[in-house]
Amino acid sequence: MKKVENVFTKGSSRRSFLKNGTVAGAATMGAGLLAGKAFAFDREDEDGRAAITRGDIAILRFLQALEQVEEDLWRQYAELGGTQDNEFTGLTGGNAAYSQALQLLDGDMPQYIHDNTDDEISHARFLDMYLQSKGAGSADLSHFRSLPSSTADGAQQIGRLTNLTQLTIDTSFWSRYRSITNPDFDATAKFVQAVPSLNVGKHTAIPRSNADTQGSVINLSDPTQSTFTDHLKAIAFTAGFHFAFIEQGGTSLYPALAQHVTNLEVLRILLSIGPSETMHFQTWQDKAGNATPLTDVDPVNNSTVTFSTLSAAQGETDPESQNGDTLQSNLIMPEPTNFLDKKFGPVAIIRPTSILNGGAVASVVSFVQDGLFLDPKSNKNTGIVAVLMRLAEEADDARRQF
Ligand SMILES: [Fe+2]
Ligand SMILES: [Fe+2]
Repeated sequence: MKKVENVFTKGSSRRSFLKNGTVAGAATMGAGLLAGKAFAFDREDEDGRAAITRGDIAILRFLQALEQVEEDLWRQYAELGGTQDNEFTGLTGGNAAYSQALQLLDGDMPQYIHDNTDDEISHARFLDMYLQSKGAGSADLSHFRSLPSSTADGAQQIGRLTNLTQLTIDTSFWSRYRSITNPDFDATAKFVQAVPSLNVGKHTAIPRSNADTQGSVINLSDPTQSTFTDHLKAIAFTAGFHFAFIEQGGTSLYPALAQHVTNLEVLRILLSIGPSETMHFQTWQDKAGNATPLTDVDPVNNSTVTFSTLSAAQGETDPESQNGDTLQSNLIMPEPTNFLDKKFGPVAIIRPTSILNGGAVASVVSFVQDGLFLDPKSNKNTGIVAVLMRLAEEADDARRQF
């Protein structure tokens, strides 16, 4: 398999971001494609199972890196909008206005945000510990914690890996799961954006400062008596769609990479974490559909967002249509789709699950296009992109060994 030539990969050191970069870890990173060789430090092949390969390590290490990115962005949402308790550190009381605006989507939003965050923390930590237990270096991204925090009440003032204030959100996941068309099956398929304006310009999904919550009147004891500006509602609804965008990525990524895993225990890890991403996605795509119609002009990003009433959108009248008639918000179960061969008939599945459309590089590219790594000072991506792309290429290059 030819290595993907990519501008991101030029000139960066493979060793510089390896935590506990043992000889094994560094060798793995430099080896690229080593067909058929078991990972030297694996001891788990006593019962005849295939040993952990270099490809398995590359897959685990990429996932451990991406889970750190997920953890970073979810922590920002949790600090501002999540339930405030002691389950994990860094919560300082929250932002009542943002938290209540999120509850316009569902009263349980703060709890769900908190728990999604807790899950990502556990994913990143588990994969780190597992890699270390195999003597393989894990990815250390702390060097890239350089992006600013929100200054709104509730946010810690620390460096971040991700920027949630200049997002361009691809909401085509919405119609993809409501369509008979599978992007793995039809590479030219176009999926309608549920919120077209979120896919254009830059949008904030968190209050950037207390200016973003000004004008809303918050009743702490009875949220039903609170009133919200359209601006704050738009920020909360943007977050609602961003949650689903992030988690549908993991929903495809784990099954895509699992097909290239050799060792059964590593396969078990991917098959066990992956569906938890799907549980997140399913929850979020249900909640996002509760957004109410509004238009907001953001003077900071110079962008406009318009939410429409998806609950009133037309149901599925023509399954092959790509004209937006499958936007109905309560269609939250996956519509059966083409898979492998049309002769088998449509089947309800996760999609995409190919490396090309749902693998590691595809995941990094979608995060980059989302604006997650944009440094607001330079308007350029941070150096994390080059590191993630290198790890992603190694992961996508992994092949199941026999
Ligand atoms: Fe995760
Ligand atoms: Fe996730």
